[in-house]
Amino acid sequence: MPHTSPPKTYRVKSFGCQMNVYDGERMAESLAARGIAPAAEGEDADLVVLNTCHIREKAAEKVYSDIGRLVKAGDAAGKKPLIAVAGCVAQAEGEEIMARAPAVSMVVGPQAYHRLPEMLDKAVAGERATDTDMPPIAKFDALPARRRTGATAFLTIQEGCDKFCTYCVVPYTRGAEISRPFKDLIAEAQKLIEAGAREITLLGQNVNAWTGEDDKGRAIGMDGLVRALAALPDLQRIRYTTSHPNDVTDGMIAMHGEVDKLMPYLHLPVQSGNDRVLKAMNRSHTVESYLRVLERFREARPDIALSGDFIVGFPGESEAEFADTLKLVDEVRYAQAFSFKYSPRPGTPAATMEGQIAKEVMEDRLARLQDALNRDQLAFNAASVGKSCTVLVERKGKHPGQWLGKSPWLQSVWFEGDVGIGDLVHVELVEAGPNSLAGKVLEHVAG
Ligand code: 5AD
Ligand code: SF4
Repeated sequence: MPHTSPPKTYRVKSFGCQMNVYDGERMAESLAARGIAPAAEGEDADLVVLNTCHIREKAAEKVYSDIGRLVKAGDAAGKKPLIAVAGCVAQAEGEEIMARAPAVSMVVGPQAYHRLPEMLDKAVAGERATDTDMPPIAKFDALPARRRTGATAFLTIQEGCDKFCTYCVVPYTRGAEISRPFKDLIAEAQKLIEAGAREITLLGQNVNAWTGEDDKGRAIGMDGLVRALAALPDLQRIRYTTSHPNDVTDGMIAMHGEVDKLMPYLHLPVQSGNDRVLKAMNRSHTVESYLRVLERFREARPDIALSGDFIVGFPGESEAEFADTLKLVDEVRYAQAFSFKYSPRPGTPAATMEGQIAKEVMEDRLARLQDALNRDQLAFNAASVGKSCTVLVERKGKHPGQWLGKSPWLQSVWFEGDVGIGDLVHVELVEAGPNSLAGKVLEHVAG
């Protein structure tokens, strides 16, 4: 590949989970630290990072079609963009991407993206580079300090997964479970707060598997970290996602009753409402044990909003077993949830299991499950009308004087008022829709 001039503008396109959004932000920061500017809306960037997701569906095909589109746009504009493929598809299929897509000059895995600037130097010199090493932690030490954020920010505290659910690629693409050190997390949170964050969402594949030592050398779990973060002045709200039912501790339940800054919201995936399916998924919890855990959270924090993930059509799932999932949903009444058709992932045990379910059956089950989840989400929103709560202002709405923020229960709330981004306002919820609510400002709390 010929020598190219160094890029002046970049665009990072992140797909998939919030951890990818966080990684995308950090890659953007490391490019900005090199003096490369974000491309303006609608402008072709000199460098494009495709930060990919491998969890479901035809992720790799999507990457190739995105690459094709970039090459075409480059040809039309008479300039070829430098293309980097990052994220979990890069980790899983890096070599194939290099072989199949000559327009790609950098392939970088989720544990190696701190090396993106060096790879970029090589790419400018005409060399192609792949880096899918998995040196834990090194990445975070090598990245520039946080400087940019909105009112809400993500903070990855834990990465990877040792659970090996039989359908899931994460243990292969993100590697073994690691926890970032306490002091690094407090320092990063402080930087985010200085940069304007008023809410921090702690991220991890199994965020509640986080362990560390506090500043006095005492062993602590995620609840200890949450309590330490809650002591930081100017931080108003703390959230976390995603948790695993098996890593729930007494301390984690207790913190929901005791830490005011911790929002009353819990995302606790269950995947299925049937014990045989859960066993085949290697979930190592039962429906009963999951329900017991939820009950304990509800005891500690009666208004807690519950959320979860579901997979329909796991190999061998019978109609009766699927009906158990609907039964579980009826019992829990989730405030919000995510549901997916099972997607065979190459290299995972479930991909070669007998009893793969036909597409039409999966689609029918997904539609029925989503009807039930939508019904419950609307009911949850409708039941919020008449309540007053705090809303953290995140952005302007479409109309002048209109703003959008989140309730403590992660509902989007629209309202009008004389406020600014990052303000915490007291709002009465006056009208509910399926995906958002309308609010009326009662008073300013902080900002
Ligand atoms: N097929 C469908 N859904 C999946 N998920 C993970 N792997 C698969 C798969 N192979 C879902 C799970 C998980 C969420 C992040 O994605 O519900 O909790
Ligand atoms: Fe995947 Fe299961 Fe780990 Fe979640 S717990 S990341 S679903 S292997």
